[in-house]
Amino acid sequence: MNKKLDYRKLFAGINMPVALEDGRCVVPINFDNAATTPPFKCVNNMIIQNILMYGSIGRGKGQKSEYCTDAYEEAREFILDFFNLSNRKDYTVIYVKNATEGINLLARSLIKESDEVVLTTRMEHHANDIPWRYVSKVEYIDVDENGKIDINDIEKKLKNLKGKVKFVSISGASNVTGYINDINKIAQITHKYGAKIVVDAAQLIAHRAINMAGNENDDHIDFMTFSGHKLYAPFGSGVVVGLREAFNDGNLFLYGGGAVEAVLDDNVYWQKSPGKYEAGTPNFIGVIALVTAMKSLISIGFDNIKTHEDELRDHAIKKLSNIDRIVLYGDSKCTERLGVVPFNIEGVGHNIVAERLADYRAIAVRHGGFCAHSYVRRLLGISNEKAYNYIINGVDMPGMVRASFGLYNTTEEIDEFIDVLKKIITRHIK
Ligand code: ALA
Repeated sequence: MNKKLDYRKLFAGINMPVALEDGRCVVPINFDNAATTPPFKCVNNMIIQNILMYGSIGRGKGQKSEYCTDAYEEAREFILDFFNLSNRKDYTVIYVKNATEGINLLARSLIKESDEVVLTTRMEHHANDIPWRYVSKVEYIDVDENGKIDINDIEKKLKNLKGKVKFVSISGASNVTGYINDINKIAQITHKYGAKIVVDAAQLIAHRAINMAGNENDDHIDFMTFSGHKLYAPFGSGVVVGLREAFNDGNLFLYGGGAVEAVLDDNVYWQKSPGKYEAGTPNFIGVIALVTAMKSLISIGFDNIKTHEDELRDHAIKKLSNIDRIVLYGDSKCTERLGVVPFNIEGVGHNIVAERLADYRAIAVRHGGFCAHSYVRRLLGISNEKAYNYIINGVDMPGMVRASFGLYNTTEEIDEFIDVLKKIITRHIK
């Protein structure tokens, strides 16, 4: 049985031809899955069924309203199960529009005073860095020359900061190098120093099972967020899962209807979490989509997903390593890594490479700083001072090209990609 073909059959739109510059139509190759993913077919089908039953969620008494409200609430239960959280009384699920909104919600709701310390890393996507900067005192764990975090540095920093750290906020996997962080181990260290852990699971969610309850003493995850659009459900929904009481005590994030118990002329009584954080009409379709995709990931099996995506990663790294002029970033031997491969062609701008991949063969990649400027700069060996000079002198910041694989990609697509890269090198390097 050809597994690769089976996976492709699960996805909508991936065989839809697009036009090349010369007018030819080809089936595109999407290697930009770290940015966003196409939908599973089952997600589209579920949306078509459910939109026919669409009604007001949590507000009305009509049959359709009750159908939607039930499905919306049952989805929270499913999400808790997905993360192995049988402990319903301690955890809650809050719907948001994506992981960026999720971290903003966490930062705004959990931080009470601006001198509270949040420990994060220089590996983070902007979503898990910038929101904390505006509400708290942020300390950073740096990365090594390969862009990795040393878990011992986290412990050292927590020890040096003598119990002042309130939250450690870290990505489950990097959107630039694909490195996977051992979040349960980091949680255990975090708890030892009296802090709580926040995990930005945007990249990890579609590729590995996440056990928020943990396996060992004190290695549970306190808070986590992710987006539907990175797990084959691009319909504007995301989730925050976290400790119910912290949210009940937390600051408000969005103000409006649907989140209140009562409004008097001079006072507002807010609901408890999760309702308190879900002002406005909810994105029912987004939630149905997200949960359907999560069910699909379970039925495919995370072991199968890992096997296939590891093969893609290894195949790409091996082929890219054999091309003169390709510079790969990160540790090419690392196996605790998703199928995310950043690189450059020496002597050809990252923007040119991305443009030519699209022009010659409709291959989609991302290029630049991937919303992780501090990390990309470190991988490129550019200091903060040098970066200031680029800005002051109006020079474009150097960047990279990134190929990021999804479950439906194949090694044959990688071979085509390699051929196009060789063509770009031949045409651009004299
Ligand atoms: N976080 C997304 C990326 O890395 C948008 O491309």
